[in-house]
Order: sequence, then structure tokens, then C-alpha cells
Amino acid sequence: MLSTLPQNPSQTVDFSQVRLQIRGLQPQLVTWRRQIHQKPELGFQEKITAEFISQKLRSWGIPHQTEIAHTGIVATLEGKKFSNRSHSPVLAIRADMDALPVQEENEVDYKSQHPGLMHACGHDGHVAIALGTAYHLARHPETFAGTVKIIFQPAEEGPGGAEPMIEAGVLENPNVDAIIGLHLWNNLPVGTVGVRAGALMAAVEKFDCVIKGKGGHGAMPHQTIDPILVAAQVVTTLQTIVARNIDPIEAAVVTVGSLHAGTTDNVIPHQAEMMGTVRYFHPQYAGYFRQRIEQIIQGICQSHGATYELKYQKLYPPVINHPEITQLVRSVALEVIETPVGIVPECQTMGGEDMSFFLQSIPGCYFFLGAANESKKLNLPHHHPCFDFDETVLAVGVEIFTRCVEKFCY
Ligand code: NI
Repeated sequence: MLSTLPQNPSQTVDFSQVRLQIRGLQPQLVTWRRQIHQKPELGFQEKITAEFISQKLRSWGIPHQTEIAHTGIVATLEGKKFSNRSHSPVLAIRADMDALPVQEENEVDYKSQHPGLMHACGHDGHVAIALGTAYHLARHPETFAGTVKIIFQPAEEGPGGAEPMIEAGVLENPNVDAIIGLHLWNNLPVGTVGVRAGALMAAVEKFDCVIKGKGGHGAMPHQTIDPILVAAQVVTTLQTIVARNIDPIEAAVVTVGSLHAGTTDNVIPHQAEMMGTVRYFHPQYAGYFRQRIEQIIQGICQSHGATYELKYQKLYPPVINHPEITQLVRSVALEVIETPVGIVPECQTMGGEDMSFFLQSIPGCYFFLGAANESKKLNLPHHHPCFDFDETVLAVGVEIFTRCVEKFCY
């Protein structure tokens, strides 16, 4: 499958022309991004967004399927470049579409019109970049061979739209050889691309635990089983998993983000409730945290005569980039950014992404497009109520995708 990578990329089209054509799209990209920004929708509810995308694709004559995994869309573009390869390459480009339950606090004329909802992660920009790529490729089918599938995916922020889209067959008919995708990234400045082979983003798992003791008077603890004391020991002991069980060369996190028990000073409650998140990169730990967390909770509860109920969920696997597709993206990024210092391999994050499901199915590369601009005060973290990014990167995203298509689909 990976023999589809070009051995001699210089045979492709005149890139200075491509750049001019794509830079010419910049005003449109900004308009689309702002239109989407004003109508944020949560996962699997992206009806207005999907209709916006579908209407654009229809007006450009691009065949596409809608309502995949509720609100997902797949556009299919056929190249007209002559290819003497026996197998015609199929590349997928993935853009997520959903927003967050955040009340926007930016005072801009393209502010969210949906109370309590906001594109606070930049997925509005991802849709605009994917649309720009579709528009450009539809106008220049002579620049690529084979097929490009553009996947507009719902619900990245949860509960996850990638897996149901794969189950619905978006990577088949024709079978996709490789997939690329990007995230606009305010942890990096404009003019940079974060790209690395191997683990880029962490696996995401979560747990809910109720520790059940026996309530009573705060002054007579001998008559009780204190769930607060048990929970406190559980919280501190959970930290020994990363500190003492995981290879110190590997990164992992266990965070208890919620702990609730009791109502007042002199009553020992019946139970304590906690919630936590687990992050790690290495697939060898899939299954390990669940087992170790339960061992700790069980052991501590048993030693105090308490019981527990544990609910453990594996949400997203780690985002693991394939070396060859990553090399393709890196070489393209270098041509677009034009300076080696703009290519940042130190861009790993313990954040998660359901792009990982696509990357488990086929080779691919997910990368970060630096989008922060301090001088324009556009450098707040993702999910912040005043999050925004430097829109000049939209055309850069289209150029990277387009050049990847030209190099992969030859
Ligand atoms: Ni995001």
C-alpha cells in the first residue's frame, strides 16, 4: 500500500502557481470560517454546518454523501492526471466540524450567534481549510491522479464521530491508502508546523468511582467506615501508577478531577464519588491503567471494610503517525513554510483526538498548524471563551493539503 508514495516528487506541478491560486482563496476562506463560527453546533448536531458544507460542494459540482454517522459528509474528487501506476492512489483528508459548550466572550462581528456554544477549538477553521482544498482540487483535477476523499467528521469533542464514520465505510469504496489531517494550534506560532512520526497525542480514558462506607457522627468515627479517608488514600495512591509502575521514559497522566463527599463538618457521609482521566502514549499500556486503578481501589477499600463501584471507559486511543506519510507531510510543510526552524517535532501533547481511530485503520499523519499570533493577541489556549486564531493560516493549510495530494496522488 505504501509503495504509492512518490520516489521523485519533483515530477509534480509548478508550486509557485499553486501558491498564487491558493493565496487568492484567502478572502473566501476567512468568510467561510466566520460564517461557520457564527453557527457553532455540538457533536452529532452539526446540521447547519453540514448543510453549509453540502451547499458549497453542490455549487461546485463535487459529488458527496451526507448524513454519515448522523451529520458527517464525504466528498469525492477524481483526479485527471495521467498515471501509469497499476494502482490508483486514494488519499483522505479529515476535518472535524463540531463546537463546544462554551459561551463566547470575544467581541467580534463574527461572534457566535448560538448562546452557550462556541467554536473554541478551531474546528470552524478546519472545515474552511477542507472546503478550500476541495474547491481548489475540483478546479485543478489535472494536478493529481486517483481519488481524494474529504471527510467532514462530526463530534470530535465527544462522544467521537471518527469510529462510527469508519464503521459506516468511509475508508472503503474505493479503499483509502492513507489519511492526513490537521489541527490549528495555538500552542505554536504562525509560520510553524508541528509534525512528528509516532505518538503525537495521548490515549484518553476516564473513570467514575463511588466509594461506599458507613456514615455516622463525626465525633464517633469508630462506629463508621469513613469513605472520605478511603477516597483520600485512593487519590494519593493512584499517583503511584505513573510514579512507580510506568517506565519513566514514557509519558502518562492520572488526574482525579472531581471528588465529592459529605455535607457538613460533623457528619461522616455514606459515600465519596470521584472522577478521573487517564492519558498515555504507548499502546502497550492499553488495558494496564484500568487494571491497576481497580487493584488500588479494591485493595484500599478492602483494608478499610469499604466497597466500591467503578465505571471505566476507554475513549480514544493514542494518535500514532505513520513514518512514511509523516515524511511526506514534513517535506511538504518544509516547502510551504520555507524554513527548517518552522518544522517543530517537539509538539506532543497529552490532549486526545479521535483522528486516532482513522490512524489505527490506515497509515496517516495528523499534524499541528501553528495558528497563534501574539502581536495580534491571538494566542489564547484552545477551549478558552476568548479563543481565536490568526486566519492567515487558512490558506497555508489549504496549500499543505493540496501539495500533499499532488505528491501522494501522482
Ligand atoms: Ni480540537
